[in-house]
Amino acid sequence: LVKMVKICCLGAGYVGGPTMAVIALKCPDVEVVVVDITSARINAWNSEQLPIYEPGLDDVVKESRGRNLFFSTDIEKHIGEADIVFVSVNTPTKTQGLGAGKAADLTYWESAARMIADVAKSDKIVVEKSTVPVKTAEAIEKILIHNSKGINFQILSNPEFLAEGTAIQDLFNPDRVLIGGRDTPEGKKAVQTLKEVYAHWVPEDRILTTNLWSAELSKLAANAFLAQRISSVNAISALCEATGANVSEVAYAVGKDARIGPKFLNASIGFGGSCFQKDILNLVYICECNGLPEVAQYWKSVIQINDYQKSRFVNRIVSSMFNTVANKKIAMLGFAFKKDTGDTRETPAIDVCNGLLGDKANICIYDPQVTQDQIERDLAMNKFDWDHPTHLQPTSPMAVKKQVTVSSDAYSATKDAHGVCIVTEWDEFKTLDFTRIYEGMQKPAFVFDGRNVVNPEKLRQIGFIVYSIGKPLDLWMKDMPAVA
Ligand code: NAD
Ligand code: UDX
Repeated sequence: LVKMVKICCLGAGYVGGPTMAVIALKCPDVEVVVVDITSARINAWNSEQLPIYEPGLDDVVKESRGRNLFFSTDIEKHIGEADIVFVSVNTPTKTQGLGAGKAADLTYWESAARMIADVAKSDKIVVEKSTVPVKTAEAIEKILIHNSKGINFQILSNPEFLAEGTAIQDLFNPDRVLIGGRDTPEGKKAVQTLKEVYAHWVPEDRILTTNLWSAELSKLAANAFLAQRISSVNAISALCEATGANVSEVAYAVGKDARIGPKFLNASIGFGGSCFQKDILNLVYICECNGLPEVAQYWKSVIQINDYQKSRFVNRIVSSMFNTVANKKIAMLGFAFKKDTGDTRETPAIDVCNGLLGDKANICIYDPQVTQDQIERDLAMNKFDWDHPTHLQPTSPMAVKKQVTVSSDAYSATKDAHGVCIVTEWDEFKTLDFTRIYEGMQKPAFVFDGRNVVNPEKLRQIGFIVYSIGKPLDLWMKDMPAVA
């Protein structure tokens, strides 16, 4: 009789939940238990209303839940029984102390490791799923070994490359799975065990094995490269506006070069999400700690351009509307950091809202997946002042209550508004009836498209004054004072 492999995953978040659900679906012979310290999250995973919105996730969870996929708060029991323990806890940017504003906060990671050492009674493979600084495996190894009571732990690095909004597709069909491990017989055996899990559905040539440090660094490097592409195209978008070039045409022409490739070249108000900024700051910190200030500065500039792009958008709105948005209703379409998710972590919408609120605008927000509560919390949140200050400060909770409303559809959000800003590229915004929207608005009526979802020419024919990132400027804006 072959023993069933048991997996326990610490952390039932955006990564732990979907990743384990897909492993359970694809590996009926593996038992998967996802545990978390937040019982509300676990309860939601066990309910009809999952804690995160992700296309296709409901079906995957329903198929395996109760069969070989379980969600539990009994962390000790399930670590105790597992052969493989994934650690997929959050690793945010430190907000206090040494490295504040840059370094990764490994508090959750360390307490997870100590818990594993405490309760383990049999040998375990411990898998780093969270994104962590290079060399974290070494620290974790030390904690485990010094507390091990004779138990054998093998540490693997298996970073996750899924993107939100497409998590299920990405997990079903990954470009690659990366597994880093020690170059010892026990290390190789552990790599092989994890490889066999993925080999249930991932072709063997897409499962890459490396040493631990390469796996850890590859994750930070991949996110830095991706974010750098967006900052590159966004930097070009500013030049397009100044010269009459069209950023979509430029990106298409550039992307036709097979060495560059066409994907991930959409100019925008700037990237958001819980990963890019955090992971680049982390990379910058590691470079500085390793005596590489030039390399650190190179990657830091990716974030600086992103901050510039967000404030440029706000400045463009205010300067176009006669240099004041005070008491004007501005409709904001979208709030999530990208389409097909309800996640608002580091969404550029927060900075754009705070910028407009600072200029005393009244904002009415519509996003198909983000709740009013979430929006109010995000806008009042005291963001840590990184060493790359944006000028877009948080708004007091009282001002948020007074100046911000949330709407349940795009038409009521835009009614009587002076301007519409599009900050998330939800598909439904492409098919809105802009004639109807125009008729309900104050005149002149403005559209500021931060995601290039509308056709500016069509909207101009209706009567709108249109700004689209990186597109030839409306005559109106050419006449306005230059944007700083
Ligand atoms: P998340 O905040 O959604 O989930 C983390 C969960 O871990 C939380 O529910 C928290 O309660 C739980 N937790 C914290 N300490 C714990 C402990 N000791 N025991 C059990 N549970 C604990 O975070 P996330 O977005 O899933 O990200 C997790 C990691 O994966 C991060 O390192 C992130 O950088 C990385 N990552 C995220 C993405 C993404 O798209 N979100 C993609 C790739 C990698
Ligand atoms: C990212 C990485 O893509 C993923 O591999 C990693 O595991 C986690 O971090 P995620 O942040 O979920 O995933 O979404 P992603 O699609 O990368 O988008 C990040 C931000 O960049 C979003 O705000 C998005 O709107 C923006 N973006 C993306 C652009 O502005 N232009 C583009 O061309 C692509």
